[in-house]
Amino acid sequence: MLSHLLARAGVESIVLEARTHEEIRTTHRAGILEDQAVRLLTETGVDSRVRSLGDEHTGIDLRFAGESHPLDFHELVGATVTLYPQNEVFVDLAATRARDGGDVRFGWTVTALADLETERPRLTCTDAEGVEHEIVADVIVGADGSRSLCRRAVDGAQDYRTSYPFAWFGILAEAEKSAAELIYTNSPHGFALISQRSETVQRMYFQCDPEEDVADWSEDRIWSELQRRVAGADGFELATGPILEKTVLPFRSFVREPLRHGRLLLAGDAGHTVPPTGAKGLNLALADVALLGEALAAWYVDGDVRPVDAYSDKALRRIWRAQHFSSWMTAMLHTPPDADPFSIRRALGELETLTSSPGGMQHLAECYTGWPNT
Ligand code: PHB
Repeated sequence: MLSHLLARAGVESIVLEARTHEEIRTTHRAGILEDQAVRLLTETGVDSRVRSLGDEHTGIDLRFAGESHPLDFHELVGATVTLYPQNEVFVDLAATRARDGGDVRFGWTVTALADLETERPRLTCTDAEGVEHEIVADVIVGADGSRSLCRRAVDGAQDYRTSYPFAWFGILAEAEKSAAELIYTNSPHGFALISQRSETVQRMYFQCDPEEDVADWSEDRIWSELQRRVAGADGFELATGPILEKTVLPFRSFVREPLRHGRLLLAGDAGHTVPPTGAKGLNLALADVALLGEALAAWYVDGDVRPVDAYSDKALRRIWRAQHFSSWMTAMLHTPPDADPFSIRRALGELETLTSSPGGMQHLAECYTGWPNT
């Protein structure tokens, strides 16, 4: 996305991507795009199928104590979200860069960074054949994920992190939709999320132990675990089918401050990671590069360095909002393995208060849809 935005401003860039196109295309990740992420794709000339293939969702269902509590984001804050998988966003972006002759190198691995405090930062990398190269640039952007090598090249910065005593067990299943929109469930057996991918393929998650081995989970066991978490007096039943994929997703919250060291700028998971409960990871990464794209263009085109200097502080304001929202949603909806009856009941009390107060629901809607009025 950033290389596309830079190209539009006439700024050249090289994208070094460690994985292959095929690996990224087939790795299932996030699914929810905020309106501003959809607009970033559609209004900047990305050849995206988000409007035709994406599924606009006007709200979510918060389910607890076996009852559904629908939240209508459109009614509450006049915004919606779009279910459009991250791997499809990737396919669209890669096609757009290929269409425009962008220099995107798959299978290239960065091995070291140097001279970051100078005006000619450089990096060494190996290409898909294992041949070593050096690249000298004006600026290096580390958008290399939560295990970022770029971030680790800098010490002395402040890292904020917390871990969680649970993870998500994610499945992709060939089944009909169980619901039109997402269901986030708090249950005595732990959290579950019912999401979708298409009319025939569904995505679902349930809270599990971080050390859980997917091999221990048969299809029957997975379906009965999911079903008991969403069960209620209304008789709600999941539509089931063959399970195509199962993975355990780790949970952590992390922020690096600042997102800059000399001529190295961090974006996306390299600078901050959120637990997936608020659906913010991909949206934050896109928000980062929207800011960075403008800032770098101002620098190259107008010689104005102020937006680049302001990038870290500006991005971190949104990042901390999203950190707070993601950990709040996580705490309210999950049941830690050692939770005592008081804390379990307290989380239910919070959900009851939230869903019976227009202000509370409006707050959640505003956060989930990405603070549309800011
Ligand atoms: C997904 O559909 O993969 C998804 C949706 C919402 C989340 C996390 C994941 O909060």
